Amino acid sequence: MIYVDHAATSFPKPAPVAAEMDRFMRDDAANPGRGGYKLVRRAEARMAEVRSQLARFVNADGPDEQMIFTYSATDGLNIGIRGVVQPGDRVVIDQVAHNSISRPLTAMAGRGEVDLVRIVPPDAAGIVDPRQIADALDAAPTRLVAIVQASNVLGILNPIREIGAICRDRGVLFLVDAAQSIGAVPIDVAADGIDLLAFPGHKGLQGPPGTGGLWVGPRAAEVIQPLVREGGTGGDSAYPTQPPIWPHWLEAGTHNTAGISGLGAGLDWIDARGGPAAILEHERELVRPLIEMLADDDRFTLYGPGPDRLADRIGLVSFNVNGLRPAETADLLDREFDICVRAGLHCAPGAHRHMGSFPDGAVRVSVGPMNTADEMAALVGALGLIAARATQPSMSSQASPTG
Ligand code: ALA
Repeated sequence: MIYVDHAATSFPKPAPVAAEMDRFMRDDAANPGRGGYKLVRRAEARMAEVRSQLARFVNADGPDEQMIFTYSATDGLNIGIRGVVQPGDRVVIDQVAHNSISRPLTAMAGRGEVDLVRIVPPDAAGIVDPRQIADALDAAPTRLVAIVQASNVLGILNPIREIGAICRDRGVLFLVDAAQSIGAVPIDVAADGIDLLAFPGHKGLQGPPGTGGLWVGPRAAEVIQPLVREGGTGGDSAYPTQPPIWPHWLEAGTHNTAGISGLGAGLDWIDARGGPAAILEHERELVRPLIEMLADDDRFTLYGPGPDRLADRIGLVSFNVNGLRPAETADLLDREFDICVRAGLHCAPGAHRHMGSFPDGAVRVSVGPMNTADEMAALVGALGLIAARATQPSMSSQASPTG
């Protein structure tokens, strides 16, 4: 089997991740902060260790406790967005945003919890032009800019540092969705001017599902409210409302401690492979032959930047085999070649509208650090065979689109 759906979740997980989860479950799985006995303190120490690892991983410029554990990137985005936006506020997002940014804001606008959401169109390749953000911010007072660092559909990288500087100059909070970038792209929240960074644990960080984080920088920490969840936190039980103490302010409830412990092992594994910069280089080289083939062969439609602009990309490529619906191509890859890809709209309909692939969507290949050049050659070969058959009149349409 060839697994190239790492944008959905990384698979297989590195062996040390599962081993660490197993160890934690057997040896240390008490509830951090709930009690003071030795076992609780060991669980607490492991959570503090992983929290600190995560903070260092993104060069967080504040107390480790402002690195909040969440259940997913979606969870972190909801905590961040709902926590800082108030009725009457204006928010700027980009058109390729994932549903986890656009849906909460659209729903909030419908309920009057945010005044206006301004959607900035990207360039033809799907990349946000920082000047568009500057113009949008100069047009009216704005509370928050929320941008995806790497598109889960187009594979593009947005100029986060330039946008961060624009937000900083104008006193606007900057939230970055790092769902597809963290682990595979270097992130420096201090240098990039990021106030809120939401990310999953189960993609590029190689951890299990049910883990993730939200970094809350100093400017956001002054204003953010716990509007998504309030409840039990451990030793500060006498407070009638959520205790204004980090990390408890945003971290009610018992967390996925075994998963977080495994996430820490995922971070160690990434470090041992040379870190995100080395992984990005490996992944770009993996997709290079695929992008070259898709760009050169008129039986395919490639979306996003071409082979001359690999530096604008992560290891994620969306395309279609002309004459086949994306779900058909994905089904053929799975049934006949044992290759796993995701087809459809990828929870980001705005990106597909932008590239003209709405409503059927596209086929998406997303590689991970463990994929090899041989696997990519097999994928390119399989696509060549599928494209050759797509031109035959007998090609039937059996599969249905997926979302
Ligand atoms: N957002 C994830 C994807 O793009 C799940 O597949």
